[in-house]
Amino acid sequence: MASLRFVSLTILAAVSVVLSDTLPSSFPHVYPGKPTGDYSPAWQKYFQVTAPLPNITFPLPQSFAGNIDVQRAGHPNNTLFFWALEKTSGSLTAAESSEPWGIWLNGGPGSSSMVGFFLENGPVRIAADGTISQNNYSWDKVADYIWIDQPVGVGFSTADAAGYIADEDQMGADFMGFLANLVKVFPNLATRPLHLTGESYAGVYIPYIMKAYFSMAKPPVKIAKIAIGDGSIAADEVFELLPALSVLETYPQLIGYDQDVYNYFKEQEHLCGYDVNLTYPQNGIIPTVGFIDARDRDVPFLEKKKYNSKRGLVAEITQRYAELESTERDLIARQRQKRDLRLRANGTLDPWYGCALLPEFIDYALNYSAPWNITGQDFNVYDITDPDGSPSLAPTFLNDPRVVAALHAPTSKAWEETFDFVFGEQEDDPSQVPMNFLTETATNATAHGISVILYSGNDDALIAHRGTEVTIQNTTFGGTQGFTRKPSTPWNDDSGKPAGIVHQERGWTYVLFSGTGHLIPAKTPAAALTFVREFVFGSNSTGSVIKTPTGSTMVVGGENSPLLVGDVLPGSSGIVYDAGTATSTFVYPAETIAAWNTFIRGQSGASKATTPAADTTNTNGAFRTTPRAALLAGLMSWACVWLL
Ligand SMILES: *[C@@H]1O[C@H](CO)[C@@H](O)[C@H](O)[C@H]1NC(C)=O
Ligand SMILES: *[C@@H]1O[C@H](CO)[C@@H](O)[C@H](O)[C@H]1NC(C)=O
Ligand SMILES: *[C@@H]1O[C@H](CO)[C@@H](O)[C@H](O)[C@H]1NC(C)=O
Ligand SMILES: *[C@@H]1O[C@H](CO)[C@@H](O)[C@H](O)[C@H]1NC(C)=O
Ligand SMILES: *[C@@H]1O[C@H](CO)[C@@H](O)[C@H](O)[C@H]1NC(C)=O
Ligand SMILES: *[C@@H]1O[C@H](CO)[C@@H](O)[C@H](O)[C@H]1NC(C)=O
Ligand SMILES: *[C@@H]1O[C@H](CO)[C@@H](O)[C@H](O)[C@H]1NC(C)=O
Ligand SMILES: *[C@@H]1O[C@H](CO)[C@@H](O)[C@H](O)[C@H]1NC(C)=O
Ligand SMILES: *[C@@H]1O[C@H](CO)[C@@H](O)[C@H](O)[C@H]1NC(C)=O
Ligand SMILES: *[C@@H]1O[C@H](CO)[C@@H](O)[C@H](O)[C@H]1NC(C)=O
Repeated sequence: MASLRFVSLTILAAVSVVLSDTLPSSFPHVYPGKPTGDYSPAWQKYFQVTAPLPNITFPLPQSFAGNIDVQRAGHPNNTLFFWALEKTSGSLTAAESSEPWGIWLNGGPGSSSMVGFFLENGPVRIAADGTISQNNYSWDKVADYIWIDQPVGVGFSTADAAGYIADEDQMGADFMGFLANLVKVFPNLATRPLHLTGESYAGVYIPYIMKAYFSMAKPPVKIAKIAIGDGSIAADEVFELLPALSVLETYPQLIGYDQDVYNYFKEQEHLCGYDVNLTYPQNGIIPTVGFIDARDRDVPFLEKKKYNSKRGLVAEITQRYAELESTERDLIARQRQKRDLRLRANGTLDPWYGCALLPEFIDYALNYSAPWNITGQDFNVYDITDPDGSPSLAPTFLNDPRVVAALHAPTSKAWEETFDFVFGEQEDDPSQVPMNFLTETATNATAHGISVILYSGNDDALIAHRGTEVTIQNTTFGGTQGFTRKPSTPWNDDSGKPAGIVHQERGWTYVLFSGTGHLIPAKTPAAALTFVREFVFGSNSTGSVIKTPTGSTMVVGGENSPLLVGDVLPGSSGIVYDAGTATSTFVYPAETIAAWNTFIRGQSGASKATTPAADTTNTNGAFRTTPRAALLAGLMSWACVWLL
């Protein structure tokens, strides 16, 4: 598939003198009391986390952690690392149980699932400055939950230098090998309904894990549901570039609410063939969309379609911008205000960007739109509202020897948020994108009674929700292609606060979260917990299409979300920016927003005839200052883009 791996081995080799024939090699640590012989319940005691974890002052559930062999022939050191939390004391070790359980996987490829544990859905939060706090909305409140580092070599997982996965089929086989051993340690897991959940590049992993599962006569576990958040299921073009205009509709701040610029992007979208029209139900396979390269310059990463490359266009843009003196930048910004757009011949594709519409609007925002055009401002693809909030988990805690020992983690390697050699010497993931076989996945899932949940964060610019909607409409499940009604039912978190949109048909559920980005629970932990309890583990019918006694259909909970404006769930009006010693929030003037609303209604007719949900942060273009400490999230530059 078009690669989502961002760092070429050549570049890394130059930096770290790691040659391709000396890939890292790691193996699990042998801790005292390790049982001999095959995995069995005798290993529970060995894996139990008993030593106190430094700086954690609140109680954690009983948990088990360590490395378990994936059973790859000739690679005895290939293991996956797991950290399993009990919902109630003894629930994992009970002789029998019919309670559901869950697995969490982060993406990357190469991202440790400890990112999810400590930034998203685990009971402990680690802020960018290392401050530890409790997350009362962790997913182990709903079920026994296991966070797993995989594929081999990622995070605390281990592999010998020749043991990295060749492709996603090998990833799936390793995962099944791991699960077969895991259920020897916790036998009740073999029969309990497994809810396999993950995010981002797990949108590749999970369909391939399912493929391995469906191919087995006697799989080691019983999968009940799969859930993928902000998943990279389709081709790069579909999840990254095709949604560009929908991102601008959600966040017109990116183009300063400028109508000409919107029309310009709309034209670019059309010229690229990204103006895919969704119908409910969908009528026929949605043709593959292509990528047209930049013409006016040599952009190797664009040719290789690595728009999100660490050393790709996005990085180049930042660098180019950073290199300009701020006075020069001010001048350029003023002189160039829309200059490019006015000079371009109408009806042609921009030769500088081609169809790289995501990098183009990022570039546009950085050049011209407040607050991104303010000196030094970053762009955070994971959460449009918070340029400084790029997610990153500092390695301090997980590399503390006390933590390593308590979790029975390996000592032959350091924990890293992202591992660079997931596919060994191969730079790219050679496997085809799951979109190509998703209807087969769906058919298999239906035959096994497995439900599919896809969910998205509305503030995610990297894997924007529109691509997920295209993925669903391009898939046949339960005998029909796509949903038959447009997702538009509101749902609320436990406090009654509107949390987004939900839609459910024929075993498929789509949930769009309002007010959060790529790492959904990071910002809306309460809503995420409601979601996982009601729609992943539960069978809440909100948003379900049902037949009425008279034979017509209706949607439980209605189809009039007050949040929705036509196709769009408007984003928040305030964009956070860095004001030196404090963070501030920028809101465009009310007249600008009002003019835009009038304009956008005209763009798509009556369907957009309502006013966007009012946002109380509107302060008429003023900058509101909030304590810096409130926004400690990430220090990682947005240039280092990974599908976490
Ligand atoms: C989490 O819940 C505990 C127990 O109810 C409470 O003491 C604590 O203050 C809560 N923590 C947060 C961050 O809300
Ligand atoms: C596996 O790890 C052991 C140390 O536990 C090491 O001696 C051995 O060489 C490793 N095997 C491979 C194939 O790397
Ligand atoms: C679907 O299931 C069949 C076995 O019934 C298996 O051979 C095939 O690989 C599965 N395909 C996918 C995409 O899951
Ligand atoms: C979608 O519909 C619009 C308006 O009817 C049309 O201009 C456009 O070509 C369509 N897109 C595609 C990819 O067919
Ligand atoms: C739709 O699915 C087919 C496979 O069924 C795939 O070839 C095509 O690329 C998909 N279209 C999009 C826009 O992803
Ligand atoms: C492009 O079209 C717009 C609106 O029709 C017009 O104002 C502008 O002058 C045109 N630009 C060029 C270069 O022809
Ligand atoms: C942004 O500014 C850079 C540097 O001046 C320029 O090359 C680029 O074309 C501009 N992009 C847009 C979308 O205006
Ligand atoms: C930033 O963009 C705003 C409009 O979005 C503009 O008014 C302001 O002059 C720009 N500032 C700079 C330094 O370019
Ligand atoms: C524990 O907290 C102290 C004080 O904030 C900090 O210096 C130390 O690095 C932390 N240790 C770990 C393992 O996070
Ligand atoms: C379904 O979930 C929603 C969350 O939006 C909740 O408000 C509602 O009470 C739940 N319904 C049932 C029957 O539990």
